[in-house]
Amino acid sequence: MSTFAIAPEAISTSTSDAVAREVREGLTATPKTLSPWLFYDEAGSYLFEEITELPEYYLTRTERGIFEAHADEILQTAALGQGPAGKLTLIELGAGTATKTGILLAAAVRQQGSVVYQPVDVSETALAEASENILNNIPGVTVRCQVTDYTREALPLNRLPNTRTLALYIGSSIGNFTPDGAREVLRNLRAQLLPGDTLLLGTDLAPFAGAGAPKTEAMLLAAYDDAAGTTAAFNMNVLTRLNRDLGADFETDNFRHKVLWNPTESRIEMHLESLVEQTVQFPAFGGTDAFTVEFAQGETIHTENSYKFTPAAVEALLASANFKATKSWRDPQHFFAVTLATAL
Ligand SMILES: C[S@@+](CC[C@H](N)C(=O)[O-])C[C@H]1O[C@@H](n2cnc3c(N)ncnc32)[C@H](O)[C@@H]1O
Repeated sequence: MSTFAIAPEAISTSTSDAVAREVREGLTATPKTLSPWLFYDEAGSYLFEEITELPEYYLTRTERGIFEAHADEILQTAALGQGPAGKLTLIELGAGTATKTGILLAAAVRQQGSVVYQPVDVSETALAEASENILNNIPGVTVRCQVTDYTREALPLNRLPNTRTLALYIGSSIGNFTPDGAREVLRNLRAQLLPGDTLLLGTDLAPFAGAGAPKTEAMLLAAYDDAAGTTAAFNMNVLTRLNRDLGADFETDNFRHKVLWNPTESRIEMHLESLVEQTVQFPAFGGTDAFTVEFAQGETIHTENSYKFTPAAVEALLASANFKATKSWRDPQHFFAVTLATAL
């Protein structure tokens, strides 16, 4: 049986006060930034789903292929050492609509008969879709959704007797954080797990990590700047969100989607570039005073990073958060890696 429960007290985390604070901090800084979680209002979550289907966006279908080929082995490896009665409970950070996760959940049901799945996301609409899809398609899964910002709040870890937690952090979400930020997210996660619990981490690999057809810079750029303009719409939607949620007066036609590959940092960067010199007004909101933001022509708001990792960097990152990488799976072209790690 599947259930859908969003704790009402958790819903406040993605409300406009939190948005106002983040936005003021980011847009009054130099250079100007906005946190990627701000993308995911209802329209942003919908656009992200469209991105995952784009021919240029190799990440989702590559990770899905790894799950399709190895889900049973992944679940069996995660369950090793849990004893005959031991079951895994799955929690997922930034689950979105959990489409790919269904492959892992089906493997968990094959392995242990039933499974409790706790997806966490800032997007209530994405979680509602996740719950409905799983309810309709995978018998044996109990779903407990939680609208929570995992960077700021404790995870809803419901520990059942004789169970271990397998935390899923897939979809290359860790790549949205700077190295320091990524370490902090994983350390926070580790602090909430017990020794022997496991983490499955999905990372997009750096271009030079490929043993098959090389991942080129052009391929990386296209994945974040597709011909249909879906990623551009996703990026621009954050301005529409700020106009709606905070009463800002962004003229969206005065900005453009800009993508670049930063080889020094091994990351794709997404920006919104101001096409003209302009001033944007934010009225007073909740506890935040009114403020204005000045843009020079050509100045950008840095809206997202997507770091690309070497396999050694993945292991080092995990080790820095007190996890030991135990096994890694890749696609034949070595574009993407899914790494299982044990909490020490
Ligand atoms: C790149 S998408 C990945 C979705 C899914 N895991 C996948 O593999 O396709 C990132 C997801 O994380 C969520 N998210 C981003 N920042 C978050 C945060 N700080 N706390 C909770 N969820 C977050 C977004 O709403 C979105 O659904």
